Amino acid sequence: MILNFGSINLDLVYRVAHLPKPGETLASTSFARFLGGKGINQSIAAARSGGAIRHIGCLGPDGKWLGEQIAHFGLSLDEITQVDVPTGHAVIFVDDTAENQIVLFGGSNLAFTKNQIEQALNTARRGDWVLLQNETNLVSYIAQEARARGLKVAYSAAPFDANAVRDLLDQINLLALNEGEAAAIAQNIGHHPAELNIDHVLITKGERGAELHSGGEILHQDSVKVEAIDTTGAGDTFLGAFMARFVDGKADEALAFAAGAAALQVTKQGAAAAIPCAEEVEAFLRNA
Ligand code: RIB
Repeated sequence: MILNFGSINLDLVYRVAHLPKPGETLASTSFARFLGGKGINQSIAAARSGGAIRHIGCLGPDGKWLGEQIAHFGLSLDEITQVDVPTGHAVIFVDDTAENQIVLFGGSNLAFTKNQIEQALNTARRGDWVLLQNETNLVSYIAQEARARGLKVAYSAAPFDANAVRDLLDQINLLALNEGEAAAIAQNIGHHPAELNIDHVLITKGERGAELHSGGEILHQDSVKVEAIDTTGAGDTFLGAFMARFVDGKADEALAFAAGAAALQVTKQGAAAAIPCAEEVEAFLRNA
């Protein structure tokens, strides 16, 4: 089982010809609202990949539609707490090359309480995994409490904050980051993440695939080439799909499956809405 203490956002997505420059006023070519947030994207990717996942999160009084979307994806709302803070949202620009720019409002994602965290952790079983990102409060507390209960911790260092990563390094079993973030950590602490004392380091490299570093061994995974429409949530899809299979100990299969899931996800618009199910990924990989 994976317990994901994760963000939930309303994604306000504007298509633009190019990403805005400082001081520029730009007309969008379309606008749409989607369920998003790195946390819930990862949970949905894990669930759609066949993983067992509990999403622990917070929604504000304006979060009804997002709750309906989450239920629509088959995730339970039982551990999503209603808080008295506006729901988190993201303003997202996506340009004609499928590249994006995101501004976050944390809102309800920053309203986790220690009580809520402990209640969720107290019902976990030894050996379960906890999944964390940088879009919620109390990340370090969750990691400490999880480890104290014999749980394993996977941490996605996004959105990137070198200090947050440094604080967590000795509390995690798996660190997931992209190669730009890996380089920033190397610069910040003087060691490449793969040289640190972490059981598994997963580095995604966009079109150049991904690497899993585990105990001195490196597994390489090529990316699957597709025509991208929108890359928002691709990293979340990769990680959620990977975790769904990795927790059963199938690292190489998990990497290959995650590469297929992320490739398919970028061929549609939106974050959570574009995440494929296991059957779609398997069919896609058979024909790739
Ligand atoms: O990783 C993509 C996600 O980042 C979006 O869904 C947005 O909500 C931001 O959290």
